[in-house]
Amino acid sequence: MSKKPETDGHGQAAAAAGMRRGLTSYGDQGFSLFLRKAFIKGAGYTDDALARPVIGIVNTGSAYNPCHGNMPQLIEAVKRGVMLAGGLPMDFPTISIHESFAAPTSMYLRNLMSMDTEEMIRAQPMDAVVLIGGCDKTVPAQLMGAASAGIPAVQLITGSMLTGSHRSERVGACTDCRRYWAKYRAEEIDDEEIADVNNQLVASVGTCSVMGTASTMACIAETLGMTVPGGASPPAVTADRIRVAEESGARAVALAGSGLTVDKILTEKAFDNALRMLLAIGGSTNAIVHLAAIAGRVGLEIDLAKLDRMGRETPVLLDLKPTGSHYMEDLHKAGGVAALLRELKPLLHLDAMTVNGVTLGEQLDAQGPGFAQDVVRSFANPVYPQGGLAVLRGNLAPGGAIIKQSAADPKLMEHEGRAVVFDNLQDLAERIDDEALDVRADDILVLKNIGPLGAPGMPEAGYIPIPRKLARQGVKDMVRISDGRMSGTAFGSIVLHVTPEAAIGGPLAWVYSGDRIRLSVSKREITLLVPEQELERRRQQQPVRKPVAGRGYRKLFLENVTQADKGVDFEFLRAEELQRKQPGS
Ligand code: FES
Ligand code: MG
Repeated sequence: MSKKPETDGHGQAAAAAGMRRGLTSYGDQGFSLFLRKAFIKGAGYTDDALARPVIGIVNTGSAYNPCHGNMPQLIEAVKRGVMLAGGLPMDFPTISIHESFAAPTSMYLRNLMSMDTEEMIRAQPMDAVVLIGGCDKTVPAQLMGAASAGIPAVQLITGSMLTGSHRSERVGACTDCRRYWAKYRAEEIDDEEIADVNNQLVASVGTCSVMGTASTMACIAETLGMTVPGGASPPAVTADRIRVAEESGARAVALAGSGLTVDKILTEKAFDNALRMLLAIGGSTNAIVHLAAIAGRVGLEIDLAKLDRMGRETPVLLDLKPTGSHYMEDLHKAGGVAALLRELKPLLHLDAMTVNGVTLGEQLDAQGPGFAQDVVRSFANPVYPQGGLAVLRGNLAPGGAIIKQSAADPKLMEHEGRAVVFDNLQDLAERIDDEALDVRADDILVLKNIGPLGAPGMPEAGYIPIPRKLARQGVKDMVRISDGRMSGTAFGSIVLHVTPEAAIGGPLAWVYSGDRIRLSVSKREITLLVPEQELERRRQQQPVRKPVAGRGYRKLFLENVTQADKGVDFEFLRAEELQRKQPGS
């Protein structure tokens, strides 16, 4: 490439600015630049290459992360896009988090990844950045980090895995993982068959193929305006995905020096649109926590009351597992997120800006009309008449709680029952299948101490199993309550994210077995039917001791992590204007 790059006209100036940004103090600025150029020339770059807009590419490839297994091809395509548009691509690593290989939970590490992302974008000279992520926590971590770093950024999704075939039945991670494991536990299938299924559930590299957290965050990233058009849905191994990568690189060059930084994309309107999308796709409850964290980085808060209002008027339109029957690759064939945006149009802020330099409405118009398909339903014929999520409040959850009603037994949505309480995960593991456990089908199972500090890292353990002796009697669903999260691929009458959590002395800490609890989804209430006087007596008698750690990341985590309503982010990473606000104000 010997010709001068043709960018949006800001490229050259941006490159010069970029080369100077964040300089360490080796004497005067000129000398610092001189040193920097000397070192990078050690890698064989010419002055012509170094005069171009520098585009960082965040490489989150890892042998521990098959959801990012197409990283080498994606990076190559992004680089091609950057160079064709006249920029200089510079890929660099950050940590990578996979759901199944991150202990104690992936959520525990999300903030660490966001700090890594933010600081490496800040530390190294670049004019714009392409963030490559896909597995559940990686896209939230990258959006959080990039929002704080304050330069233009494009989110590139790794893409979903393909579905597999087990004895001619279509399967995909991980709704089908749960279903087949339950069959195996019930001795409906044998060792040989469960081993066969194990080979088919994850048929290729890429993210889970149902509407779990990864797919939810992909759809949300596109709706927020953070990806190129159609960036959410192409599966990981397709030509479409590689083309999206090339386009993302070119887009980043156009953004370099444009001043269109992440905070200008992530506005209140963009978050409103994202909440609409979350509701319409019957998305993962985890996305609420992630959106609160991302919003907190740009000085905004997710209003749960607003989410609830939107929920009453936004139907579930997407027929994907676990709410429906299809998989991500089917959404892609049906037109992707644009097909959903088209249906949602009357409810969206179409003037929200995107990284593509046009508004969401303009982008949608440019994508043309849709076509007949059976994956994205019309408003007149929804999968579920209301948004999948409802926000509950009451004396048990003064800071709110969430229930995914589209994935629950409608009969249990108005229910009063006796609490059967488990103090923590170990207590649950020891007693849930005990034949002597005093539990009936109309009881309410309560699990404490799986909140942000409790476990720690708010594990996806809110999907409390049905006690074996009841499961054998055919009980399929019960009301279950915890301060934890649930996998986006799971289902049931499950109240999650009870805030504040038990480990810091939230009301959940003083629920005892035998207490009565009332759930009313129609009234959006969750009530502990115990007199305040008695609760006060319990508080005095059994004060809660907050978990602490002596050193390291765990100490940083336990001392700084916020509750679910603030996104489980670290308080010191939130926008400064939010840090100054008093709790509850
Ligand atoms: Fe990575 Fe499901 S494990 S997306
Ligand atoms: Mg998940």
